Amino acid sequence: MLIIIHLLLMFAASLCLLAGVGLARFGRKRKFWLRGHKNLNSAGGILLTAGGVMAFVNIILTGSDHLAELHHRIGFIALMLTFLTVFLGFYSLKASNKSVFRAVHRWSGRLSPIAILAALTLGLSMIGIF
Ligand code: HEM
Ligand code: HEM
Repeated sequence: MLIIIHLLLMFAASLCLLAGVGLARFGRKRKFWLRGHKNLNSAGGILLTAGGVMAFVNIILTGSDHLAELHHRIGFIALMLTFLTVFLGFYSLKASNKSVFRAVHRWSGRLSPIAILAALTLGLSMIGIF
């Protein structure tokens, strides 16, 4: 059951994050792009965290090992990259050297969706969908 919730939360998180990144990439001419980007990606980060907690608890309840499979490790990297990206996004709004933090944010913001899509594909292949 927890793994079904994990899957649903991760799907919802991926949709929010991809929409948020799409807005930053292709919707920059719209006035609301930054608000939309911030809200969609913050919601995505929260859903991703909740999904990660479900997987973590499921591993404990089933007595398996943490980070034992490739999906688990790529998923963990995706979570860490997403936390870093959200932090850099907020920090870059008020940092004195904004351009450096924004450049790092743009790069971690490209890597994190790649890691998320890889984790999603590996997760779906674990249950025989791919
Ligand atoms: C954004 C996508 C995803 C991320 C970031 C992610 C992340 C994780 C992480 C970090 C773990 C390991 C937890 C630990 O070692 O304590 C895990 C476990 C797991 N995930 Fe995912 N996941 C994602 C999508 C999926 C999908 C789509 C499925 C398909 C059902 C799935 C199925 C599983 C399963 C079966 C486990 C092992 C749970 C266990 O052995 O009790 N994941 N995931
Ligand atoms: C995991 C969450 C996030 C991801 C994956 C992400 C990803 C990205 C990407 C890929 C870009 C560059 C778009 C382009 O021009 O190609 C970008 C730009 C930006 N993001 Fe995010 N972002 C996230 C969260 C946030 C948050 C929470 C904020 C603010 C609170 C934020 C603020 C910004 C700003 C200000 C820019 C413009 C940077 C510049 O070009 O100078 N981001 N983001």
